[in-house]
Amino acid sequence: MTAIITVANQKGGVGKTTTAINLSAALAHRGKRTLLIDLDPQANSTIAFYDTGEIATSMFDVLSDSRTTLTAVIKPTKDPLLFLGPGRLSLAKLEQVLAGQFDAPFKLKDAMTPVLKDYDYVILDTPPSLGILTVNALVASTHLLVPIQAAYFAIEGTDDLLETYERIRARPNPGLKVLGVVITLFDRRTNISKDTHGQIRSVFGEVLFKTKITKNVRLEESPAYKETILTFAPKSPGAVEYKKLAGEVIQRVEENRVTHHAEDAA
Ligand SMILES: Nc1ncnc2c1ncn2[C@@H]1O[C@H](COP(=O)(O)OP(=O)(O)OP(=O)(O)O)[C@@H](O)[C@H]1O
Ligand SMILES: [Mg+2]
Repeated sequence: MTAIITVANQKGGVGKTTTAINLSAALAHRGKRTLLIDLDPQANSTIAFYDTGEIATSMFDVLSDSRTTLTAVIKPTKDPLLFLGPGRLSLAKLEQVLAGQFDAPFKLKDAMTPVLKDYDYVILDTPPSLGILTVNALVASTHLLVPIQAAYFAIEGTDDLLETYERIRARPNPGLKVLGVVITLFDRRTNISKDTHGQIRSVFGEVLFKTKITKNVRLEESPAYKETILTFAPKSPGAVEYKKLAGEVIQRVEENRVTHHAEDAA
């Protein structure tokens, strides 16, 4: 079964895209066939691999027009195990385009079904809002991964995300699970980072990943060179940390699977 992981937090600039890109690259590095889907009109995940002019069709076409298949828009990357479902500014129009369609929240799930056999992992990068794009991601996913920036007021707003998660679990997608919370932009030297780490740990407890992503300028630079951190600065803390995070992600996904089998057997 393919693990489909939504990376979401409606707070802006907390490291969703940086995590989506580099976690995807790190999963591919561990031999997993991975599809990164960019559902953000800002298209930051896409621009990290391609110039806008190189993208003819995008996730907007897939979600707004059932004649465009996901297979038709998927692009390869320099890594033979990593693929991209590109985003585009036009995604901002999707809410309007789908208004009144009863199956609006299921567009992505339906589009993804035929390609899942080709991938071990699908990572969904989402915009900083809980609109139709994030809802489509959660409806189509097996897991939710929440990046939280080590900064004051970091936890504020996660209530709304968790409420949306519970609503989606209640009806369209009861199988959805929280895979984990990852602390991003951590700075060992500051008390702010240490205080918020303690706070995040007390709120999220064991769902918090052991790996923290520290603040590192290499992570900021790599997209401009159309590289992931693994090829841009393979020895940098960012590369090491995202590889460790991928290890934890794989372990949690595979443990879940074992639990399911045990439940099935009982
Ligand atoms: N660990 C890190 N160290 C240094 N810079 C980082 C790190 N993580 C993210 N950044 C930088 O912080 C900015 C915001 O990160 P990113 O784009 O990943 O957040 P986001 O949650 O996807 O934002 P948005 O909500 O706008 O989609 C970017 O400039 C990114 O390069
Ligand atoms: Mg982003």
